[in-house]
Amino acid sequence: MSDASASTQVTQRPQSDDVVIRFVDVWKAFGPKKIFEGLDLTVKKGETLTIIGGSGTGKSVLLKCLIGLLYPDSGQVLLHDENVAQKNDKELREVRKRVSMVFQGAALFDSLTVGENIAYPLREHLKLTDDELTARVAKNLTMVNLPGIEHMRPSDLSGGMRKRVGLARAIAIEPEIILYDEPSTGLDPISTRVIDELILSMKDKLGCTQIVVTHDMDSAFRISDRMAMLAHRKIVAEGTVAEMKRSTQPDVRAFLDARAS
Ligand SMILES: Nc1ncnc2c1ncn2[C@@H]1O[C@H](COP(=O)(O)OP(=O)(O)O)[C@@H](O)[C@H]1O
Ligand SMILES: [Mg+2]
Repeated sequence: MSDASASTQVTQRPQSDDVVIRFVDVWKAFGPKKIFEGLDLTVKKGETLTIIGGSGTGKSVLLKCLIGLLYPDSGQVLLHDENVAQKNDKELREVRKRVSMVFQGAALFDSLTVGENIAYPLREHLKLTDDELTARVAKNLTMVNLPGIEHMRPSDLSGGMRKRVGLARAIAIEPEIILYDEPSTGLDPISTRVIDELILSMKDKLGCTQIVVTHDMDSAFRISDRMAMLAHRKIVAEGTVAEMKRSTQPDVRAFLDARAS
């Protein structure tokens, strides 16, 4: 059924079945406000793709379409050739076992401890004993370099620590794909480095495919296998870090040159 869509666009690539995520001709509007008009984007297995673009261009909307929090008006959002845009709530639960999102602002439950926050998706998606749950939570906190803070409250943590706990929660279910919405916005340069290292280690240790929305170009240059620029309601340029740095595409140039000042 999906044979045709699986072979389009990437026919020249021998590793075409390595494509994990594909947006095909996606259109989205909120009332009169047009967000996407024929957006296309492909992400390959195990790569870290960063999305750059101005405020309000639809970067968060794009990530939300991938986990079914928002639906496009038309077009396909394919996860291994399954269209997320056509899934019901039950099917979306299956998608969310494989795709985790680290939300802008961490989105922790302040009424729960750090440990309970991380256990939350584990309880929802996996059947683990209490001991297994405790061990998994401890392991994930160690992975984000915050061992032993299970009993703390999110409100007692610094911004950087909250982001890392948000990441620990996102990786708890050992997802195949991780989406990060501005993971280092509002953080100091050292905390930003820590998050960058974590993103790199998710790729190296767990082989995750990742999409990172970021405004921080230094961070994007450090973590990206490829970058894509969202402007004018579509992806206007994409390429490796080196290709983007020497790109003559006007939106990319304006964006990259602005950071120098
Ligand atoms: N659920 C929604 N309902 C209506 N408008 C929305 C909704 N989500 C986002 N928008 C609008 O879509 C545009 C893109 O939003 P967003 O993806 O959050 O931008 P950004 O690129 O800064 O992440 C914004 O103008 C925003 O106000
Ligand atoms: Mg956003």
